[in-house]
Amino acid sequence: MSQEQVIKRIGIIGLGTVGEAVVRSLIRYGANIKRRSLLSLQIAGVCDKRSAKAHLASRLSVPFTSDPYKLINDPGIDIIVELVGGIEPAGTYICDALRAGKHVVTANKALLAERGRDILSLAAKQSRIVAFEASVCGAIPLIKSISEGLVACEVNKLYGILNGTTNYILWRMEKDKLDFSKALKEAKLKGFAERNPSIDIEGRDTLYKLCILSYLCFGIWPKPADVPTEGIGNISLLDIFYAQEMGYNIKLLAVAKRIKNRLQLGVHPTLIPEGHPLSETSSSYNSVYLDTEPAGDLLFYGKGAGGVPTSSAVISDIVDIAFYGKVVMRREEKVVLENNKDNASRYYVRFMTKDCPGVLAQISRILASKDISIASVTQKQRGRKNIVPIVMVTHDAKEDNIRKALKRIDALPSIKCPSRVIKMESL
Ligand code: HSE
Repeated sequence: MSQEQVIKRIGIIGLGTVGEAVVRSLIRYGANIKRRSLLSLQIAGVCDKRSAKAHLASRLSVPFTSDPYKLINDPGIDIIVELVGGIEPAGTYICDALRAGKHVVTANKALLAERGRDILSLAAKQSRIVAFEASVCGAIPLIKSISEGLVACEVNKLYGILNGTTNYILWRMEKDKLDFSKALKEAKLKGFAERNPSIDIEGRDTLYKLCILSYLCFGIWPKPADVPTEGIGNISLLDIFYAQEMGYNIKLLAVAKRIKNRLQLGVHPTLIPEGHPLSETSSSYNSVYLDTEPAGDLLFYGKGAGGVPTSSAVISDIVDIAFYGKVVMRREEKVVLENNKDNASRYYVRFMTKDCPGVLAQISRILASKDISIASVTQKQRGRKNIVPIVMVTHDAKEDNIRKALKRIDALPSIKCPSRVIKMESL
């Protein structure tokens, strides 16, 4: 059967790192796409509010405008690619593009996490598509794999390293013993960090991606504010060192566990045993481990940050829309988000205490009073001013009990600075 070439015209809003990379990749790989899919993808225009970007557009030989509505309202454009980021005005551009009859491709995880349900329901009402492969894990075709490849599967558990910047920082701290601020500076220089790195560091970027994955894996759009989230700002070289001594690496992990229709979600630094692929995720790579039925365990690994790798995901969405006119999306289901405070987990705890008789007994008494059993305890070398780190690993303990116990322990006169507590996963 002979097939005819199909021409699709694209408008790109946002000429930042990812926008520029998408333009370059469309130009560079356009012939590949045409040969494989018979699609001719034409860039009808690029838009950026920063007029200085006009020079870049002219170097790339693509028409430039600083008015997004020139693209949104252009009847000759089929697909709008939103790469502005942030909630507004990106949300308005997407909704107006859908109302103007355009399909939309976006990498905007914050917007999808906050308003994904409304945006997808507007798209359905307008019989248009919103595709967002690039919003989670950059180049890894994770969304397509979950939505299409695993269409028959139930996901029981998801563990994900979803943020390249924080993984890079923790990896540099672990590998070359850089302190946090030096490692962050390097991540910025390499272009991994967002404009505002606190989104990465505080775990919000991971949280947004976990919310999107919760919809795709479990059929629920959790409110980001309802998901307990902790970033890596409190992780010190000392903890990385002690974790390594015990055979663990510290990673910022997104965790989802479903039992029947109840779902536990969280984002937090986690000790993961060395040797597990998640624990060995290096540099700015992302990795996602899924426990599914009937497909079993699956692991996805690849570049999760950076414009060039992410451009591959954006183009894959454009081709899906242009070629198939559809993307497979999950329907919402009756899944209930659980309060995590009764969840049990093992914990790594570090106390900084005066080295004098009876301190360990005081700490143990408080832990016992909260039903927390100690699996191991090590007293490290004495530091300055007679202060000594004590590192404990607990057996499974309830999160709420740990918090309450540490509050009491931190109030003891012998405790010299707030205790550090990090979850552990056996995996
Ligand atoms: N800042 C993100 C990261 C990349 O470091 O993974 C975009 O999601």
